[in-house]
Amino acid sequence: MSTEQHDTPSVDAVPVDGTTGLDTEALEAVIAAPGERFRHDYLEMRDLRVVFDGFVAVDGIDLTVTQGDLRFLIGPNGAGKTTVVDAITGLAPATGSARFGGVELVGRPSHRTARAGVGRTFQTASVFDELTVLQNLDIAAGAGRRPWTMLRRRSVVPEHVEQALDTVGLGHVRDLPAGVLAHGQKQWLEIGMLLVQDARLLLLDEPVAGMSQSEREQTGRLLQRIGEQRTVIVVEHDMEFLRAFASSVTVLHQGSVLSEGSVAQVQADPKVVEVYLGRDAGARASASAATGGAPPSPGSSSTPSSPSPSSAEVS
Ligand SMILES: Nc1ncnc2c1ncn2[C@@H]1O[C@H](COP(=O)(O)OP(=O)(O)OP(=O)(O)O)[C@@H](O)[C@H]1O
Ligand SMILES: [Mg+2]
Repeated sequence: MSTEQHDTPSVDAVPVDGTTGLDTEALEAVIAAPGERFRHDYLEMRDLRVVFDGFVAVDGIDLTVTQGDLRFLIGPNGAGKTTVVDAITGLAPATGSARFGGVELVGRPSHRTARAGVGRTFQTASVFDELTVLQNLDIAAGAGRRPWTMLRRRSVVPEHVEQALDTVGLGHVRDLPAGVLAHGQKQWLEIGMLLVQDARLLLLDEPVAGMSQSEREQTGRLLQRIGEQRTVIVVEHDMEFLRAFASSVTVLHQGSVLSEGSVAQVQADPKVVEVYLGRDAGARASASAATGGAPPSPGSSSTPSSPSPSSAEVS
């Protein structure tokens, strides 16, 4: 897939109104697929390491995410979140191991990761702007078909492509070029492309950045449902979104795992508080935990109203 990236068009973007959201009925049809295929899937990273010209971006990470988990991966800018996803999808040179469904992903070229059931989205949506929504889905679904048959408009749209189109709420814009979609819709299109590829491991890099509140909520519910069957890792900065939808959280800092657990556990971890809010806040959290008091947490109501970075967009 092209990774050509464009700024979100602001003037001619297709508006999202209340009637054009995600289609939960279609989603039910997609996730009603036999669950057997997904059961026991898990991603296991062991001593995953990425070094760029002597700079250690990912410093020996151990991380396990099971099918049915909606794992959020958070951490300050430069923590190594995207590099972990790149390492798993063949876009960053890695050592160590990352196995999914019994397949080693480290060292696997990026064009072969989809075949291992792995799909990802990028921080900036990477759809083919000149092609229609349907053609984008068709290409994602069409591994093995010849390029000219993929680009030809077909009279019959395959059932699973039709379902994905409805699931991500883009049926009404199916014949428009993807370039005119609003930012949120492009992200949904990308998620739709992973569904038609039948990705069993989905790695989503900041999927709700730039989305409206209503788009975020719809996306969160979509990911929760997809995460019931598939293995999903969501890289995010938005703490409000995390609190609403994460089932577990891993915090990265300077290429290492700083903390891991439920949202509540991670928010109460003094190390996490310190990284996000500064050393003093971390020390107060430690003291508070020792005396049984409620510690401050990133983005919680007990934190200052405008910590730096902000409570809503910890970055
Ligand atoms: N191709 C590269 N060459 C050299 N250094 C890189 C490369 N890609 C990433 N880095 C560095 O690795 C570190 C981790 O970057 P990464 O993009 O993974 O962070 P991130 O956690 O995704 O941050 P953000 O929240 O800003 O997206 C950063 O210091 C970054 O500058
Ligand atoms: Mg990143």
